[in-house]
Amino acid sequence: MTQAGLRGDPQRITSLIEEIASISETPAPTGVTRLAYTGLEREAHGCFAGWMTDLGLSVRTDEVGNTIAERPGGTGGRAIGTGSHLDSVPRGGRFDGIAGVVAAAEVARLVVEQDLEHDRPIRFVVFAGEEGARFGQACIGSKAVGGMWTPEALGSVRDSDGVSIAEAMEALDFDPRQVERARWDRDDWAGFIELHVEQGEVLEAQGIAIGIVDLISGSTRFELTVDGRASHTGSTPMSLRADALCAAAELVLLCEEIANDPRHRGTRCTVGKLEVTPGSITTIPGEATLAVDVRDVDSGRQRDTANEVVSRSRDICLRRGVELSARLLSDASPVVLPAWMRDITSGVCKDLEVTYRVMYSGASHDSQMVGHAIPAGMIFVPSRAGLSHVPAEWSSSSDIALGVEVLTRSLLALDVQLTRLGR
Ligand code: GLV
Ligand code: MN
Ligand code: MN
Repeated sequence: MTQAGLRGDPQRITSLIEEIASISETPAPTGVTRLAYTGLEREAHGCFAGWMTDLGLSVRTDEVGNTIAERPGGTGGRAIGTGSHLDSVPRGGRFDGIAGVVAAAEVARLVVEQDLEHDRPIRFVVFAGEEGARFGQACIGSKAVGGMWTPEALGSVRDSDGVSIAEAMEALDFDPRQVERARWDRDDWAGFIELHVEQGEVLEAQGIAIGIVDLISGSTRFELTVDGRASHTGSTPMSLRADALCAAAELVLLCEEIANDPRHRGTRCTVGKLEVTPGSITTIPGEATLAVDVRDVDSGRQRDTANEVVSRSRDICLRRGVELSARLLSDASPVVLPAWMRDITSGVCKDLEVTYRVMYSGASHDSQMVGHAIPAGMIFVPSRAGLSHVPAEWSSSSDIALGVEVLTRSLLALDVQLTRLGR
């Protein structure tokens, strides 16, 4: 059991990423579309399961569709693990989530091919439904692992076609009534480290190879519906209108203004979706629905911003003579990742003389939810130009390969540390 070459293989990384990218509803140049709880997402999980069985590892799927492979440890005990997600946003990139799953597959290959010793089992995980694009709810599979769902809640969250998460799960032969069985507990799990692309431009701009995440932003998402009065665009005088879209336009700019206010420094607030009814050039918009996403690393500021958006939106709608209703889609708190987990990875970077920095994550991640159940850590690798959730999203296979080495050594060091501490 040497640890000679623990670098990932860049060529293999490229080919695994391409294999997953080919599973898409939309053709390559327009980006990858592989939404949560669809047949395509399952196909991607199937690829991963195939990679794991080819290595001789056991693979299982839990009650909500998370795929979990395992290499037994020398002495058993509570497991450690790594992994990420394989679903995407509509017309998204090839790396968000996928880089972490491919990195997990590379770690699996390295430990198996080099017959590396570890005391406790190492598990390789693909979480189902990480992206909030379909249901407004992010991290569905990892929230189950974190013990954050009830069957009733899974039945109450619906996509734009009215399909609930529970119905989408059942259509794929999962059992949402058993969601509580998917929870990870501390008698079985000791720690988890996820590799992910940064999705920002800090590492690239500063020429740093590895980000070690200390804090993951929370998000509050809600829908604002403006009810105005649809009517003829030619015969209705300007003074007699209740144009829902004109009010919605003010609300979009309100979100920007509130997030830019120095009181909310560090908040990001975005209207990423706007639907207008009836959507005809000759009819005044009668209804407009906006999807608002507020993110912050400070939970107080996150909720204050969301409340301020709703209360000032009411004032705007009152002034304009239109009705406003607000519906909460999801609310996740920021999560601090344990310092001792970060120290393991920074120790590895120092030993390898690899540049690193500690940083927060603006995006949500499965580790955020895993962190509710067991200690979690996160490693970032650079993203080109900080672009993510778009077809141009890109990270180099050699950067990911270095991330694989840092991840593998971090998991092995975690195993040793847990044994030393008798955990
Ligand atoms: C996940 O990618 C998120 O929306 O942060
Ligand atoms: Mn992701
Ligand atoms: Mn994403």
